[in-house]
Amino acid sequence: MLVSAQEMLQKAKAGKYAVGQFNINNLEWTKAILSTAQELKSPVILGVSEGAGKYMTGYKTVVGMVKGMMEEMNITVPVALHLDHGGYEGCLKCVEAGFSSIMFDGSHYPIEENIAKTTELVKICKEKGLSLEAEVGSIGGEEDGVVGAGEVADPQECKSIADLGITMLAAGIGNIHGKYPENWKGLSFETLDEIQKLTGDMPLVLHGGTGIPEDMIKKAISLGVAKINVNTECQLSFADATRKYIEAGKDQQGKGFDPRKLLAPGTEAIKATVKEKMELFGSVGKAE
Ligand code: 13P
Repeated sequence: MLVSAQEMLQKAKAGKYAVGQFNINNLEWTKAILSTAQELKSPVILGVSEGAGKYMTGYKTVVGMVKGMMEEMNITVPVALHLDHGGYEGCLKCVEAGFSSIMFDGSHYPIEENIAKTTELVKICKEKGLSLEAEVGSIGGEEDGVVGAGEVADPQECKSIADLGITMLAAGIGNIHGKYPENWKGLSFETLDEIQKLTGDMPLVLHGGTGIPEDMIKKAISLGVAKINVNTECQLSFADATRKYIEAGKDQQGKGFDPRKLLAPGTEAIKATVKEKMELFGSVGKAE
């Protein structure tokens, strides 16, 4: 059964660890993430961007696949199915399709409009029992066509949004999606500290988990981050393992072209990346 992310994130915030959100693209991704979470007894959040939702033919397909897989694989750890960087319409669609959690990314709107739209969604999510993530200060880089400039959020605006009754808050603190450039200035821990002081128990979300050095991840968790999003890193691991398989000519040996063989090294590589992150975030064993 899918659950809202509320309980797992409140526990994570109180216990000073973070739950990973790993974005999914297809069956292999989903299977790899669910099996690793179960093996490590870790709660997990499956992230679906609007683009990935379209790729998988729509949100209903995603809900059907995830629910079916959890039942067939006997997944007992808490799993939230979460819309990543949703627009207002996308959020409504995911509520209807049966997601257990949504993110409304209103960071590109003026703050008043972000507040107004987030308020509407708080009401809907409360009624239906979904968790809701809101965002202040856009995350840099590009993800599925959503481009952010990498702002550092205004802590007072964060407080205004946190007070609306959302479940978790994503705040830009210099983090960006995708690989970090050589001249990246690092995370703004001063801003994070200020945000956490103003928002209290609110679980904070760190986007752009790919490529953030381990010590920064640990420091962010110590300052109230309870959810960390990882997408690109699984894509890179998958692509790397798949390339190695093909470059070694394995697809041309025997039945090596069979997709169940061809996609296996990539799937195993995603598992290894997810395991590494769950260990780093401290969520291993927290679902026991
Ligand atoms: P990365 O692709 O940089 O890991 O970011 C993922 C993310 O923040 C999804 O919202």
